[in-house]
Amino acid sequence: MKVLIATEKPFAKVAVEGIRKITDEAGYELALLEKYSDKKQLLEAVADADALIIRSDIIDKEVFDNAKNLKIVVRAGAGVDNVDLQAATQAGVCVMNTPGQNANAVAELALALMVYGVRNLFNGTSGTELMGKKLGIHAFGNVGRNVARIAKGFGMDVYAFDAYCPKEVIEQSGVKAVDSVEELYSTCQFVSLHIPATPETVNSINRDLLMRMPKGALLLNTARKEVINEAELVQVMEEREDFRYITDIKPAINDELAAKFPTRYFSTPKKMGAQTAEANINAGLAAARQIAGFFKDGCEKFRVNK
Ligand code: 3PG
Repeated sequence: MKVLIATEKPFAKVAVEGIRKITDEAGYELALLEKYSDKKQLLEAVADADALIIRSDIIDKEVFDNAKNLKIVVRAGAGVDNVDLQAATQAGVCVMNTPGQNANAVAELALALMVYGVRNLFNGTSGTELMGKKLGIHAFGNVGRNVARIAKGFGMDVYAFDAYCPKEVIEQSGVKAVDSVEELYSTCQFVSLHIPATPETVNSINRDLLMRMPKGALLLNTARKEVINEAELVQVMEEREDFRYITDIKPAINDELAAKFPTRYFSTPKKMGAQTAEANINAGLAAARQIAGFFKDGCEKFRVNK
């Protein structure tokens, strides 16, 4: 049995060692493809793999067509928008994620980026504080809940909207639940995005929502770039001199935004929300255990394709 770790953005070394321990104990062979630059390398590496551990790596039909032995793909992380789930099902491959395992890492980065934004990108000028400000959490999943927990420590007034999470669940966490996405944006000067990229959410963060945000608005994106309507974001930033956009996912229009709004726009050079040793260990080891459980006990908990 061969398990392949294919990570264009590698795990911390300690996480790979932990995965190896689990695969060794299970009697599997472990192969490693890190920092690859060409899809061909991935196509070659998957050719004889029975199981695959990935991060944001694109796993499309061509990959499944080249992976005749493949039975399971585990995305060590939350979002599965990088995997063609239909192609997986057609190929008879089970796809899983490891929900929650990297959530604290992303949430800590979200707060760090918020501080960076309100301190004017550390340019030496006088900024503002987070305490007492209204933060809107757009989607109350694993990351959103962790952001709420940490933001309360900063003394922020935390609100949330999640189309799929009952208001009572949000309120049990000491967070104010609002009735609509429009209300969230109209209420909160700070909005932190935690929605996945799905057909319903792609391009959904648009001018209408962003223009509702109170004065001194800061939109924070540690989720996915695809959810932003980028053309309308530029319009909003042109119309509103008070509007800031801080992101962990470099948009296609990064250079334009950086040139036009040097003090109100920032993107990390590479998505780094989940890039901690702890998150890599949590998600990587969970992925390896899920693979062992799948082969040994037929366990399909965390399966995301039908
Ligand atoms: C996720 O979906 O789990 C996060 O976006 C992290 O992605 P990454 O593993 O590519 O850093």
